[in-house]
Amino acid sequence: MTRAALLAPPLVLVLAGCGGNQNTVAPAGHDERAITQLFWVMLGVACVGFGVIVTLLFLGWLRRERPSLPGGRGERAATGVVIGLGVALPIVLLVALFVWSDLVVVNSVAAPTKPTPVTVRVIGHQWWWEVRYGNTRIVTANEIHIPVRTEVTAIVTTKDVIHSFWVPELNRKVDMIPGTANRLLLRADKPGVYRGQCAEFCGLQHAHMSVEVIAEPRARYDAWLARNAQPAPGASSLFDANCGGCHQVRGTPAHAGVGPDLTHFASRRSIAAFTLPNTPSNLREWLRDPQHVKPGNRMPNLELSNAQWTALQRYVESLR
Ligand code: CUA
Repeated sequence: MTRAALLAPPLVLVLAGCGGNQNTVAPAGHDERAITQLFWVMLGVACVGFGVIVTLLFLGWLRRERPSLPGGRGERAATGVVIGLGVALPIVLLVALFVWSDLVVVNSVAAPTKPTPVTVRVIGHQWWWEVRYGNTRIVTANEIHIPVRTEVTAIVTTKDVIHSFWVPELNRKVDMIPGTANRLLLRADKPGVYRGQCAEFCGLQHAHMSVEVIAEPRARYDAWLARNAQPAPGASSLFDANCGGCHQVRGTPAHAGVGPDLTHFASRRSIAAFTLPNTPSNLREWLRDPQHVKPGNRMPNLELSNAQWTALQRYVESLR
């Protein structure tokens, strides 16, 4: 095996963390840009520092047979290097980086204090996200629609354990703590879908707790808002009897808040917080055996006949 072939797999694994649709170094908003800049500069400074230290060690090793005479020119030069590179430069660099990171960047990504045009409340659950829009009655799950180039305040909290809301292309992480509401600014500079992930271990399905921020032009966002403010097109007694104890479908007798609001479920991109793409076959699999798809989640396996399964799926698919 060549050396390149040996190096390729670990390199791919390392770089895989930087790419894809959840990218920590592709800022799409002002706050994340400040964080990414800080990251690159700190990485650059650390790399240069590491290079200088390794070079000095190497020079010392080359000269190991020729020690400097005490008090000679070599010793004075060595003392100068220790004081300059070992004491003075680190003090200057670390103070500068401290001021920039802890005073400048931390300040610029601080919780928004002024009201913003749009506010969303995001509530963590094991293991999905409840999303509520400003003063409207709109409730969705796992997808946060925002207008592009607009400041949006996300007010985040949790219904159960501690979670952490993190959409790396838009901003830092923010903890979701019981009884506390934390704030974060979401602002996307260009339209797009920004994937996020719960960033605090919160139980068995922590890894299956993803979220998407969908940034759209204002007109499309307003249309989405208007569509989602509508109640469901109709009710289903089968759904109410079997699912209504946990789910809400606005405009029908089902109005529980244990699981996600399903009023417009069929228009969403995923099932179970991005565990599966929302396709008919995946929906069928999810409805019939949720404990196989996402073990430990709170949705029980129901005992229904084939005809009932088909009717239930048809109803859920009608919730556009
Ligand atoms: Cu929620 Cu990890």
